Amino acid sequence: MYKIAVIPGDGTGPEVVREGLKVLKRAGEKFKIAFQFTELDYGGERYLRTGETLPAGAVEALRGFQAIYLGAVGHPDVKPGILETGILLRLRFELDQYINLRPVKLYPNVETPLAGKGPQDIDFVVIRENTEDLYVGVGGFFKKGTPDEVAMQEMVATRKGVERCVRFAFEFTRKRNRRRKLTLCAKTNVLTYAHDLWWRVFNEAAAEYPDIQTDYAHVDATTMWMVKNPEWFDVIVTPNMFGDIITDLGAMIQGGMGVAAGGNINPQGVSMFEPIGGSAPKYTGKGLINPIAAILAAQMMLEQLGESEAANAVERSVVAAIARMKSMAAGRMGYSTSEVGDLVAAGL
Ligand code: IPM
Ligand code: MN
Repeated sequence: MYKIAVIPGDGTGPEVVREGLKVLKRAGEKFKIAFQFTELDYGGERYLRTGETLPAGAVEALRGFQAIYLGAVGHPDVKPGILETGILLRLRFELDQYINLRPVKLYPNVETPLAGKGPQDIDFVVIRENTEDLYVGVGGFFKKGTPDEVAMQEMVATRKGVERCVRFAFEFTRKRNRRRKLTLCAKTNVLTYAHDLWWRVFNEAAAEYPDIQTDYAHVDATTMWMVKNPEWFDVIVTPNMFGDIITDLGAMIQGGMGVAAGGNINPQGVSMFEPIGGSAPKYTGKGLINPIAAILAAQMMLEQLGESEAANAVERSVVAAIARMKSMAAGRMGYSTSEVGDLVAAGL
């Protein structure tokens, strides 16, 4: 019995999570997997009502689950940063989900803005470090609000944090067993301390993985190659901030936010799976949003739980559903949000 915490969250989060749960329940019947879903109301509405992002004891309680399934956080009436740091980043940090795994995979029949590129060209995985870097919130103001104001925000890299991420990436590349190529994406020519550490740790680890071909690309060049030659990539490992940026580009070349999913992974603990698009306030409650990303997040969760057979079946069913959809864009799918969920569930 898998105990899953479900945080539908804000905006279109609840609509897409509903479809993901529909597919999980169907997969559970089909593959004899028992789930117990516990819904938690963390998000903007709760914050506006109670002034609290996560209630006391929430993180401890979440440690008792096998996984967390998250819709989206972000509310138009809440100042930017509060829900992001108070819920999403806090869970990533406190549950030590040190890997953010983001596949960039163009499925057949999905339109990419890259001319002349198809599914055989766009199929790589970004492994984004998820607990350090510019995200740690170290810094401050000096003389705030005056003409002499100083604002600082520190980039933090620890040997432990970099090493566990880099090693995860090598192991992942080996297990994925496609081109067995791992690219470090950083900015060693400018960030001569933090990324010097990344560079050294990457090369030290590489010596232990002679079967993995290694490569390096500066982050600016990475964005260029992702557009021009995405087929060069197999697995990319990168610090948190760059990973955030390049995975939005990745989401676009794989067909948009409607299909992009990710996992916040603690290989020894509780992981959290989410569609990587936000709460999409303008589509909220209209049944127009594409739930495929949320369904693929559920699929990644099945994989992480060790239910590979069910995970593969969900992916095949998604591919079949996509073939019938007109577009991956919200409002242009040719189906409503719940009809897409029905298609995938029925395909199982
Ligand atoms: C993401 C998001 C978050 C991030 C925000 C909402 C804090 O953009 O998951 O990529 O920057 O990590
Ligand atoms: Mn992002």
